[in-house]
Amino acid sequence: MTGFDCRNGMLCAEDVPLTRIAEEYGTPCYVYSRAAIESAYAEYSQALAGRDALVCYAVKANANLAILNLFARLGAGFDVLSGGELARVIAAGGDPSKVIFSGVGKSEAELAQALAAGVHCLNVESPAELDRLSAVAGRIGRRAPVSLRVNPDVDPKTHPYISTGLRSNKFGVAYEDALPLYRRARTLPNLDIVGIACHIGSQLLDPAPAAEAATKVAALADALAAEGIVLRHIDLGGGKGIRYRDEAVPDTAAYLAPLLAALAGRRETLVFEPGRSLVGNAGVLLTRVEYLKHGEEKNFAVVDAAMNDLLRPALYDAWHDIRPASPSTGVEAVYDVVGPVCESGDFLARARRLAISQGDLLAVMSAGAYGMVMSSNYNSRPRAAEVVVDGARMHLARPREDVAQLFASERIPE
Ligand code: LLP
Repeated sequence: MTGFDCRNGMLCAEDVPLTRIAEEYGTPCYVYSRAAIESAYAEYSQALAGRDALVCYAVKANANLAILNLFARLGAGFDVLSGGELARVIAAGGDPSKVIFSGVGKSEAELAQALAAGVHCLNVESPAELDRLSAVAGRIGRRAPVSLRVNPDVDPKTHPYISTGLRSNKFGVAYEDALPLYRRARTLPNLDIVGIACHIGSQLLDPAPAAEAATKVAALADALAAEGIVLRHIDLGGGKGIRYRDEAVPDTAAYLAPLLAALAGRRETLVFEPGRSLVGNAGVLLTRVEYLKHGEEKNFAVVDAAMNDLLRPALYDAWHDIRPASPSTGVEAVYDVVGPVCESGDFLARARRLAISQGDLLAVMSAGAYGMVMSSNYNSRPRAAEVVVDGARMHLARPREDVAQLFASERIPE
């Protein structure tokens, strides 16, 4: 379930017509369905029932406090990439002892912040970071729970920008360097070795590469155990893809089955860090048609959302479905759906057959993950409002920014 269905020609978020949300909060506006998020989380819980497992929602996918609070109440842990994301989790009522701190470039301040908060684990990605963590832990008088993020060198077969588990990527410690680095970690002060982690990429439709990575990581865990380094958890990262268009997407149980099979009978807790598959289909970006421009070669629907609101089409050539929120009197034509920003790369969709008129409300579908979080103020555009729908109720999770806010902290020299 995505939470977005048509009722009497009106596209609704749960029980609320999107036209009603746009009247109330204006456009552009992100809209999320609470029920859809809960149902996506339940798929993970059910698929992992009977296994000792922890689902750590990847905050980077959608970091609004209302969303984080929802996951906290569902009992989820969190995967964070920065001190900022950790602060959000805590502000939203998340449990720091269920937080995994990932990332190649953690600063000293971030390491100290994570240790002071009492996170579950820091996923270390280089020998230099291991040294820094040991030193920071010593300085603030804490022991640091550590996993190494291992790069298993498998091809996840996804977009090169979101593929992370190849030797050529910047992420993780090379597979063959992992054992020696664990040995070194054991000799460093203030570190507790608790696990091993990998994450091979995002928007994965075939679980086979992730299962291959799981097998490789489990082999390392065995090799470590043989040397007396016994791990408490194996973290397989996130990555399960969603349907944007017509992709054949396995459901969560089918996706996880080969991974769980690769780790059958193991004693370690299994950790997963899903982002997109929990929130991606549970959100849309509402936008209004400002102008229709009919040209010789192309027709443009100029809408009030732009690449600064949803960067994925411009950055990855990502495909998002465009659906009118209500029946239109418009004549069908093929349009590029573009924003007001001053770049030719500013498009939300290209060559779409749409029956639309000026003033119509459109929904850019499957925008719940990597939408608002990647937005910017380019062209001094205030960022969109965010609304969470729960049945017939609307909750303004973040008001639209106003222009004065954008430059309130800027200073002109005397
Ligand atoms: N864990 C780690 C260490 C990650 O780097 C990521 C995503 C995740 C978990 C969550 O992966 P997911 O379950 O969402 O696939 N902006 C891109 C996606 C970047 C993903 C980065 N890392 C997009 O819009 O497609």
